[in-house]
Amino acid sequence: MKTISIISQKGGAGKTTLAIHLAAAGVEAGLSTLILDADPQATASQWSQWRGGSDPEVVDCASPTLLARKVQQAADLGADLVIIDTPPHADIMAREACKLADLILIPCRPQAFDLSAVETTADLVKAAGKPAFVLFMGGPQRAPATYKDARELIEGSEGVAGMGVPVAPVMLTQRAIYHHSTAQGKAANESEPEGKAAEEVAALWTWIREHVNLSTRKPTRGKRSAA
Ligand SMILES: Nc1ncnc2c1ncn2[C@@H]1O[C@H](COP(=O)(O)OP(=O)(O)O)[C@@H](O)[C@H]1O
Ligand SMILES: [Mg+2]
Repeated sequence: MKTISIISQKGGAGKTTLAIHLAAAGVEAGLSTLILDADPQATASQWSQWRGGSDPEVVDCASPTLLARKVQQAADLGADLVIIDTPPHADIMAREACKLADLILIPCRPQAFDLSAVETTADLVKAAGKPAFVLFMGGPQRAPATYKDARELIEGSEGVAGMGVPVAPVMLTQRAIYHHSTAQGKAANESEPEGKAAEEVAALWTWIREHVNLSTRKPTRGKRSAA
């Protein structure tokens, strides 16, 4: 079983949207996938209710002291993939989720205020000593200069120290379908399997699978073939 923790001390960074799309991709790939909703606001749980409770299963866990036990329970029950969706402004929960993770993702909008807020999250994540990446969420579709600047700020550039966390080569850009589909209990690639968002989710999943060494049992629908 692999555990991916989604951490950002900033609200509205795209944590739950990323968690939902990763988990839905895991289910589509034939993996037994669970979201641990560690946010007391329970947005992922709300999404699951809108979805009618079908896979992925979403389990509430608002207490950091119970998180390790819930991850262990998921492993005991044969889960392949656990995604931990965390609340903002919650150091203890974020640290616990980092401790349990095989991979940590820090979603971030490529905008000045959001980028500067990443530094706090990056410091917290680095302390865990786990593989971690910043992943751009909700940015423009075509803005190479914006992404270059944002990447340099995070990764550093010649003579300028960065934040010590690399940027993932995949992203979910600003697309209304991410918002509309989650509001209907779906993932964007379920609402529009042939759409651009579905392509982004497929690329994200391909990259994730390589990074956490997940063997996929079934190819994702119509997109890149699985290993
Ligand atoms: N790539 C995206 N494109 C469009 N809307 C997005 C995208 N990512 C997130 N959103 C929207 O931004 C808002 C905040 O996202 P959310 O995932 O709830 O953030 P967090 O969990 O970090 O608070 C939500 O309304 C969500 O639908
Ligand atoms: Mg959230």
